[in-house]
Formats: sequence, C-alpha cells, structure tokens
Amino acid sequence: MAALLQLEGVSKRFGGVQAVNQVSLEVQPGRVTGVIGPNGSGKTSLFNLISGVVRADSGRIVFAGREITHLPPYRINALGIGRMFQLTRLFGQMTALENLLAVRGSGDARRAMELLAFVGLDGLAHEYAANLSYGQQKLVEFVRVMMADPQLVLLDEPFAGVNPKMEERLIAYIRELLQQGKTFLLTDHEMPIIMSLCHELFVMDSGELIAHGSPAAIRENPRVIEAYFGR
Ligand SMILES: Nc1ncnc2c1ncn2[C@@H]1O[C@H](COP(=O)(O)OP(=O)(O)OP(=O)(O)O)[C@@H](O)[C@H]1O
Ligand SMILES: [Mg+2]
Repeated sequence: MAALLQLEGVSKRFGGVQAVNQVSLEVQPGRVTGVIGPNGSGKTSLFNLISGVVRADSGRIVFAGREITHLPPYRINALGIGRMFQLTRLFGQMTALENLLAVRGSGDARRAMELLAFVGLDGLAHEYAANLSYGQQKLVEFVRVMMADPQLVLLDEPFAGVNPKMEERLIAYIRELLQQGKTFLLTDHEMPIIMSLCHELFVMDSGELIAHGSPAAIRENPRVIEAYFGR
C-alpha cells in the first residue's frame, strides 16, 4: 500500500531548540496514525511542518505522491490536508454556523448544518461561538476542518479538556469518517483513547522519533516507558 503522507528526514530548529530532528515517517491511507510523546517533544511542530504553518529547515514532505515541503498552508489545505489546532481558533463573535461558512471556498450552509447535526450541535448553529462550552467549541472546530472535505485530517489534542460524553461523540465521528475513507494523524495525551483509536503509533522525544509500532507493542517498549516516566 502506498503511503498517503511521507516525511523524509524532516528537521526544524527554533533558535537553540531542535524541535524536530530528522523525522521520517509514513501515514497509511484509511487509518489513524498516532504521534505521542512528552510535552515539548515536537508533536505540534511536526503538525505545523506538515500543514505548512512552519517551513522545514531540511527534509522532504510528500502528500499523495506530490511534494508539499515548501508550499504555503492554503495550498496544502487545498490539496486535501485539514488541520485542527491544539487551541481552539473559532471566532467568538460569530455563530457556530458562521464559523463554518467562513472556511475558504465553502459557502455551503446545507453542508454546514448537516455536519453540525452529525455532531449533535445543529440546535446551537445560531449561538455565538464564545457562548459554547469548551467541548462544544472543539466539536465545532472539528466540523469546520471537515467542511473542506480533507483526505488527511491532522488532529492536535482534540480530546484535551473535553468531557467523556463529548469524547465519545468525537470518537464516534472519527470512526464514521474512517468508514468513509478518511485518514487521520492524531496526537493526544489521553492514552486510553490513543491506544484504542490508533492503528499505528510513532513516539517522539526531544524532537526525535524513538519508536514506531502497534499500540500494543508501544505500550511495552522500554524506551517509551523511559521517555514518559524516566525523569
Ligand atoms: N514557533 C516557535 N518558536 C520557538 N520555539 C518553538 C516554536 N514552536 C515550538 N517551539 C519549541 O519547540 C519544542 C517543541 O514544541 P511543540 O509545541 O512541538 O511540542 P509538543 O510535543 O506539541 O508539546 P505539548 O505536548 O506540550 O503540546 C518546544 O521546546 C517549544 O518551545
Ligand atoms: Mg503540542
């Protein structure tokens, strides 16, 4: 099976910090690939490199057979990579529906309402985003990413601060989208969810990949246990 996304020796330094160091990985289509690692290990930086928010110092990023390494974010998004940020980026003074319609090139109110209904938020479509609970905002943001119908979805800590009921809905939604053929690259600190949702895991520590394998194998990996609990 050809990988949907390939990173080859990708590096990024911020001043004195080597945030991402020679990372090579592949994301297979139709699966959930997880990236885990301690705080500051480079997960968000990796997502920033893939989505074009940050430019790689070296290395190559290939999506669906096409090099995207130095493309700007809007081009990468147009090619089919959607991105959910670690902190919510909704416009508080716009309604949930307006936030969805603000997505570049999507004036489709019917699709927006369908997506909101899918996550059970159609009743809140006309509520200001600022008045929604944190978990509801996360769901709206997730739906906003799906408005552009991306092939690959990058989810940076979608479960952080979300209550168990919302978590369940988000998980069900991800599973449904998997059925539809979507591919996910996910990072989160909620280990039980990561372990049950991901088909494959990459582990980062200090900007480097230190392990790769199935969730079951990763759980037993001494280097991973050391990275998480060794200091
Ligand atoms: N734009 C930036 N400018 C300077 N340093 C940065 C920038 N982005 C990230 N870093 C640094 O790169 C390192 C990796 O940060 P990153 O946000 O990628 O970690 P993370 O694995 O996502 O952590 P967390 O689990 O806390 O979200 C950190 O030392 C961080 O301070
Ligand atoms: Mg992060």
